[in-house]
Amino acid sequence: MSIVKLYDFPILGYERGSLVVLDKPSGVPFEIKRVYYLFGTTGGVSRGFHAHKKLHQIAFCISGRCRMVVDDGINKEDFMMDSPSIGIDLPPMLWHEMHDFSADCVLLVLASDEYSESDYIRNYEAFLDGTSK
Ligand code: TYD
Repeated sequence: MSIVKLYDFPILGYERGSLVVLDKPSGVPFEIKRVYYLFGTTGGVSRGFHAHKKLHQIAFCISGRCRMVVDDGINKEDFMMDSPSIGIDLPPMLWHEMHDFSADCVLLVLASDEYSESDYIRNYEAFLDGTSK
């Protein structure tokens, strides 16, 4: 079984284009307290390299593509993000890294809480200790 949970949000197809709604009724499993997005990531640069203690997030690649690596302390999986309606679940205590950003990549993230540096685990060994794996 995959450690990657994917949310496939409905695309409301109108003749003029597509629209995706991100809210509780459409499937977001937490109250959204923060939205942020990454763009203009310099070629060859990787990002992430952390887990969160309590924060729950869902990430979407709403333009371009990038490769998300997730790691629960036992298994590691790669997911190519290139669909604006597919969200990848980033629950607490899941190490994640983003690689291979296309120049036009925009990564949109829904978060269950406000920004708090103390919620980050940026050291991989400390992450493994925290998972007891
Ligand atoms: P970070 O989450 O470390 O992103 P990445 O791992 O992709 O580089 O955030 C980068 C910087 O931005 C870091 O100094 C913290 C700051 N930041 C905020 O101030 N508020 C936020 O909501 C987020 C997500 C980051």
